[in-house]
Amino acid sequence: MRIHNFCAGPCTLPLDVLEEVQGELLDFEGSGMSVIEMSHRSAEYEAVHEDALTLFRENAAVPDDFTILFLQGGATLQFAVVPMNLLGEGASAGYVRSGTWGKGALKDAAAWGEAYAAWDGESIAFSRMPSDDELELRPDTRYLHVTSNETIEGIRMSSFPDIDLPLVGDMSSDYLSRPIPWERFDLVYGGAQKNLGPAGLAVMVVRTAALEEMHTDLPSYLRLGAHADKHSLMNTPPMFAIYVTGKVLRWMKERGGVAGMEERAARRSGSVYDAIVGSDGFYRSPVEPAHRSHMNVVFRTPSNELDAAFLAGAEEHGMRNLKGHRSVGGIRASIYNAMTDEGVDSLVGFMAAFRDSAG
Ligand SMILES: Cc1ncc(COP(=O)(O)O)c(C=O)c1O
Repeated sequence: MRIHNFCAGPCTLPLDVLEEVQGELLDFEGSGMSVIEMSHRSAEYEAVHEDALTLFRENAAVPDDFTILFLQGGATLQFAVVPMNLLGEGASAGYVRSGTWGKGALKDAAAWGEAYAAWDGESIAFSRMPSDDELELRPDTRYLHVTSNETIEGIRMSSFPDIDLPLVGDMSSDYLSRPIPWERFDLVYGGAQKNLGPAGLAVMVVRTAALEEMHTDLPSYLRLGAHADKHSLMNTPPMFAIYVTGKVLRWMKERGGVAGMEERAARRSGSVYDAIVGSDGFYRSPVEPAHRSHMNVVFRTPSNELDAAFLAGAEEHGMRNLKGHRSVGGIRASIYNAMTDEGVDSLVGFMAAFRDSAG
């Protein structure tokens, strides 16, 4: 029996996709092999690879002057790869320190080059994102790094900064659940393991003109230009993750692409927020309403004991992985693209029943 899996990542994937993968595991399209057993230079795999690249471009409406890269090392490696490639001599990078992940991205950039916090939400417990006029940018800034959705604190940028500098975005936890205003970005990246597919793949999209100005004296894997030149086939790519991601992207396209996913996310997170707001103070969200994530809904009951009872009761009703991140506690429902409406309905129903029984 399948549970409703609210994990923050890796997370639930569409059942249709899993069944298709299961059906093809021993014999992919008459090749007599699975995708994980074939050469990454084979015609069969190259078709899978190109298909996934094309579907990503279509779903995210990536303009022709941007290059899509399939990389490894998760989003974490990109924390380092971005400044290594983009930060030239005498330039600095501004970071929005909006939560755990924005903090991590800044720390890694600062280990390589000149990086600073253009805004810091720590003193307000990362309960909201900044407005454009709160950003403090130095004149030598090459880019401003933003985290579109802070997975742990449950906040999102409801709109991206509209400033005179290129943006770089970590979109790991709301990738392809909202449109990306490409004209503002030089680069976006994210791990696949939430909205796109299995862990092991990171997808980066970079303005091709920016790619041409990047450092060329880096070791080959760290040099983005090397991946671009070889269509992300410079070395053996994470083939299984790319193959499954291609299927998830097709599943997404059939459901209206990013526009469809955006509507789903607003509606489904909205029903959980409504359950919080309508609970007469029993459930509380620490996040300012305009900044509430559409992917990771964080909330609490009146006490740690009730939080624990909530999690145990939810589990008995087939809902797992609702525990908040260990650094913040409480409850977190991650409602990524592939979460079913039934999963969300079960959660909302259980929230009402639990409040009635405990309140
Ligand atoms: C917003 C964000 N950035 C970065 C990461 C780190 O990703 P990875 O584990 O792929 O390195 C995560 C992981 O949850 C995340 O949610």
